[in-house]
Amino acid sequence: MLPGARPDVGPPPRFWAAEPRLGFGAWAVGGAGWGRGRGRGPHDESDRIATVARAAERGVSFFDTAPTYGDGASESLLGRALRPHRARVTIATKVGPHADPRASLEASLRRLQTDYVDLVQLHETADGWERQLEQLDALRQAGKARAVGLCNATHLQLARANELVPLAAYQGPYNLFDRDAEQRALPLCREREVAFLAYRPLAAGLLTGKYATPPVFSADDHRRGIYWFKGREFGRRRAALDRLEPLARHLGMSLGALALAWALARPGVAVVLAGARSAAQVDQNLAATERALTPDAVARVDAVVREAFPPPRASERARALAAAWGERERHIVERLDGGTSYEAIAASWTDRGQQPMIAAQVKVFCDQLTEQGLVISDAE
Ligand SMILES: NC(=O)c1ccc[n+]([C@@H]2O[C@H](COP(=O)([O-])OP(=O)(O)OC[C@H]3O[C@@H](n4cnc5c(N)ncnc54)[C@H](OP(=O)(O)O)[C@@H]3O)[C@@H](O)[C@H]2O)c1
Repeated sequence: MLPGARPDVGPPPRFWAAEPRLGFGAWAVGGAGWGRGRGRGPHDESDRIATVARAAERGVSFFDTAPTYGDGASESLLGRALRPHRARVTIATKVGPHADPRASLEASLRRLQTDYVDLVQLHETADGWERQLEQLDALRQAGKARAVGLCNATHLQLARANELVPLAAYQGPYNLFDRDAEQRALPLCREREVAFLAYRPLAAGLLTGKYATPPVFSADDHRRGIYWFKGREFGRRRAALDRLEPLARHLGMSLGALALAWALARPGVAVVLAGARSAAQVDQNLAATERALTPDAVARVDAVVREAFPPPRASERARALAAAWGERERHIVERLDGGTSYEAIAASWTDRGQQPMIAAQVKVFCDQLTEQGLVISDAE
C-alpha cells in the first residue's frame, strides 16, 4: 500500500462476477455534442437530474461518465443526482489520454462530490498509455479509485494492460450491429476475467428504430458524423430493423429493449451502458431487464443481422488493381471472399500490432468498391 493510502475502501469490486446488468451512460444527459434534447433546452437542469435520479431510484447501480462529457458537466450532474444513493451505486469515470492522471481524477472527485470512484478508466491509448495506466493503479492504491479499467484499446493493448495492472474492466463499443469486440476483446475479457462494459448499445439511438430515414442532426450534434446514420450503412441497418420489429413485437418489447436485452445476453458482457436523456427513456430501457432473451431469440436476432451484412466478394479486377494499392487496402481486398466477415477482416489486420482497423472501415471501403463495381455482393 502506498504511503497515505486509505485503508478503508474495501477490496476491489469484482465487476466480472456479478450478473450482467444495465448501467447508465451519462454522456448525452450531462454532456455536450448531442444537440438539443427532444423538445427541451440544452440547459434544462431539473430534467437532467430527474433522469439520473430515475435510474438510481429504479435500481440502476452502475453509472459511467468522463471529465470530457460536457467539460465536467456530466460528472457534476452525477455528483448532484447521486448524492443520496452514493453508498450503493458504482461510479465509473475516465482519465483522458493526455491528462495528468492525478490532477484529472482529483478534479473528477470534486465534481462527483465523492472521495473515491469505484472505477477509473483510461479513456484511450495514446503514446505512453502504459505509464498512465500504472499511474491510475497508484491512485487506486491510494484509495482514490477502487478499481482500474481501460477503454478503446486493441486486444493486444488489452492483454498488455492486464499484465501491467490488476485490470478490472474493459469498455468498448458493442451492439448487435457493431460487433468488433466479439473477435478478440470479448473472448480475452472472459479468459482473463476482466469485466466487459458495452458502450453505445443502442448505436446512439438508431437501435430504438425511431429513424425511418437518415436523420439530420444539428451542427452541435456529433452524431452528424457517425457513418451508420447515412448512406448504404443506414439502409442496411434500417432493413435489418424492419425485420427485427416483428420479433420485438412477438416478444412484447420495444426494438430498443430488444437491442439491450440482446447485449445483456451475450456471454462475457458485465454491464450494458445505455445512455438516456429523459426519465421516460430510462423506463423504456429498463424493460430490457424484465425478461432475459432465450437462446432462440438471440439466435433469431443474430440471423437477421448476419443476413443484413453479407460479406462481399472482390472481383478479379479489384484483385488486380489492389496490387498497386496500399497495404491496408490490399489486406482487405485479399480477404473479400464472400465468407469472411467485416469484423474478422479488421481483426486480422489489427493482429499485426500496427494502426488498428475496425469493421466500419472495412464496410466504408467496400461501399466505395461497390460504387466502382469492384465487388460482388449477394445483397445487391
Ligand atoms: N468509452 C468511450 O469512449 C465511450 C464512447 C461512447 C459512449 N460511452 C459510454 O456509453 C454510454 C452509452 O453510449 P451512448 O450514450 O453514446 O449511446 P447509446 O446508449 O447507444 O444511445 C443513447 C442515446 O439513444 C437515445 N435513446 C436512449 N434511450 C432511448 C429510448 N428509449 N427511446 C428513444 N431514444 C433513446 C438517446 O438520445 P436521443 O434522445 O437524442 O435520441 C440517448 O442519448 C455513454 O453515455 C457513455 O457513458 C463511452
